[in-house]
Amino acid sequence: MYENIKYEVNDGLAKVIICRPKAMNALNEDVLKELMAVFCEINSDDEVKAVIVTGEGKAFVAGADIAQMYELTSLEGRHMMSLGHNVMNYIENMEKPVIAAVNGFALGGGCELAMACDIRIASNKAKFGQPEVGLGIIPGFGGTQRLARLVGKGMAKYLILTADIIDSQEAYRIGLVEKLVDADNLMEVTEKIAKNIMSKAPIAVGTAITSINKGFDLGMAEASAFEVETFTAAFGSDDKKEGMSAFLEKRKAEFKNR
Ligand code: CAA
Repeated sequence: MYENIKYEVNDGLAKVIICRPKAMNALNEDVLKELMAVFCEINSDDEVKAVIVTGEGKAFVAGADIAQMYELTSLEGRHMMSLGHNVMNYIENMEKPVIAAVNGFALGGGCELAMACDIRIASNKAKFGQPEVGLGIIPGFGGTQRLARLVGKGMAKYLILTADIIDSQEAYRIGLVEKLVDADNLMEVTEKIAKNIMSKAPIAVGTAITSINKGFDLGMAEASAFEVETFTAAFGSDDKKEGMSAFLEKRKAEFKNR
């Protein structure tokens, strides 16, 4: 069904593997549309509780497709960037946890895709960067915004203005990735993290994601008020009864699927 994506689900854990070997998994409009379709499928599939996004081969994603962008008019370029934003926003705002397993080059739109995920686990072979200014453009899938929010304004400007490509150790040091692992262990460690999250209360996990995402763009007073609402949503769930009674009865909680 998908031409540029491999999609599988095992025991509630979905894997989206971007696979476009001739262009280092670069995101053209077809890949962006397939990403949107697969994430819509994931969102409406009650069996899926968490998602891992990765790339096949030596790239995670080497950016938006430069050959395609070269041919586009300004208006068409705007349309492609809008599509990219829609995909990244959709991924970021899903209530199911999405983890990027960054196996290799995560450049431009690839770095932006990783940043739209909730958590980033990087192999020691991964490389990160926003090389757009060297191409006469700027990041167009949310990079100027998400990078500054993740690593701070100064470091975001440093990376975007120099177009430097950094290794995963440096990405870890500046807070662009949350965990650094040997390439051979990347999938094993990422799956372990996903399964750990999947063992927690799904509604609580989903509302925590929403609370962090939405609250981050608000002032503290508004964000606190928003947390009261998201907290209340989780507090009213059956999972709260199960989680707390399991603690009191000294047993493992068994949460329901959403
Ligand atoms: N778009 C289109 N094709 C790409 C591509 C991209 N982003 N990245 C790599 N490819 C293609 C290459 O053109 C090459 O194709 P051919 O075999 O037909 O020549 C093939 O993938 C293999 O690439 P290389 O030979 O360059 O492989 P390498 O190992 O020497 O280098 C690399 C790997 C460092 C990732 C290098 O390919 C590279 O610098 N790619 C471009 C990275 C980039 O600038 N990304 C930002 C794009 S702009 C953007 O993303 C805008 C935005 O914010 C949305």
